[in-house]
Amino acid sequence: MVSTHPTGVQHSGSQYLPQRHDTSANPSPNQELLPLTARVHHHDLLEIGGCDVTTLVEQFGSPLYILDEETLRSACQQYRDAFKQYYKGESQVLYASKAWNCLAVCAIAASEDLGIDVVSGGELYTALQAGVSPQKIYLHGNNKSREELILAIASGVTIVADNWYELHTLVEIAQPAQPIRIMLRLTPGIECHTHEYIRTGHLDSKFGFDPNDLDEVFTFVSQQSALNCVGVHAHIGSQIFERQPHQDLAVVMVQWLRDATKYGLKITELNVGGGLGIKYIESDDPPSIEEWVKAICEVIQEACAAENLPLPKLLSEPGRSLIATACVTAYTIGSSKVIAEIRTYVAIDGGMSDNPRPITYQSVYRAVIANKMSSPLTQTVTIAGKHCESGDILIKNALLPKTEAGDILVVMGTGAYNYSMASNYNRLPRPAAVVVANGEANLILQRETYEDLIRQDRLPERLKNQE
Ligand code: LLP
Repeated sequence: MVSTHPTGVQHSGSQYLPQRHDTSANPSPNQELLPLTARVHHHDLLEIGGCDVTTLVEQFGSPLYILDEETLRSACQQYRDAFKQYYKGESQVLYASKAWNCLAVCAIAASEDLGIDVVSGGELYTALQAGVSPQKIYLHGNNKSREELILAIASGVTIVADNWYELHTLVEIAQPAQPIRIMLRLTPGIECHTHEYIRTGHLDSKFGFDPNDLDEVFTFVSQQSALNCVGVHAHIGSQIFERQPHQDLAVVMVQWLRDATKYGLKITELNVGGGLGIKYIESDDPPSIEEWVKAICEVIQEACAAENLPLPKLLSEPGRSLIATACVTAYTIGSSKVIAEIRTYVAIDGGMSDNPRPITYQSVYRAVIANKMSSPLTQTVTIAGKHCESGDILIKNALLPKTEAGDILVVMGTGAYNYSMASNYNRLPRPAAVVVANGEANLILQRETYEDLIRQDRLPERLKNQE
């Protein structure tokens, strides 16, 4: 039974399924709400990667992150292929692993020929353990520790130097015989429309060298034989739908390349960062991966031609647009509370600990009920997490079928900045994650246990067995 609007539009969870456009055999994952393999089977049940979602929850428990391998690989391929198509020089896509850093995700990205951007010793260690080639790893961070820098140098990865303190530390720890491969992160002074916490390119940002210091930075770096500066980097922010800020950035960066030559620096790499947005709700309208890549390549090629510069190796480091849509989080519905004429709260078995984005950035999500995909959407409810915090609301005004305890709520677009920002608030064990492909599900992150929660706890002798 599906409710039908006078316009003929079906109002059921099925409306969120990927749109199969005849003209586009390759939908851009960042423009879809559900993973590309999402289907409804047996009339009412959600399937992803050939696996029934309710069965996955029975098998692996709840809440559960479900990562669709085909969607992730498709996004990797679309980035890679678009750079090959639109850029005449060499290119390398790096996966910004802060979006979701774990062994399996790093391994999938690397198997698609992507490099990896890491921002800490922990992310670097994980990427190396996943078998990613150090030549394709770039270490970021505005306050890398000496230990992190030493690990990066020993591993042979490229370091994206962020500030003077870091440059001086690098010079101190460098072995003269082995110059350290670095890039310079600069703040381009470009504004873009996104949440202020995830905007980084404006001048008042904690990241990167002030562009007013360009002369001094280039002079210093050109005089250090211990530093092999190969490129410049900038990142202007995240969840961006406009193409113009990245095009403006590309122009500014080519000017940096031109300026660098005056100091005798051989800058051959240019990294435009990440930032392409995704569709979290119906009204979100980001450009496709291909459109975004094309826009950047065109501007860089034009600007290099105008400056008579050879084309640099072009790097980009998308995170969200590579992985967000590939993953959904399945929760089990428990209690609910009806407050007459105000709202109905429907509570799930997770919340701000597995997805801190709504409480942190007021992010909005859409959800479906995995076991009621064709049922009419008859109620508007508030999806509440189970944390002791009134603000732990996952979705305000979710349009859903009539729900009952035991239903499986699936929140879409949770691949980026969910697991990676997850916590143990209220001592909730972090959920498991599975990767699904061709009807097979493999565990990639084991569910934490209560024992895991106290693994790092220490109880001093004098506090034991107290009456
Ligand atoms: N490169 C650098 C240097 C970055 O700082 C970031 C994101 C990226 C690349 C990848 O950006 P993306 O393609 O994912 O937009 N936790 C926030 C997002 C923080 C983004 C941090 N940097 C959120 O949940 O929205």
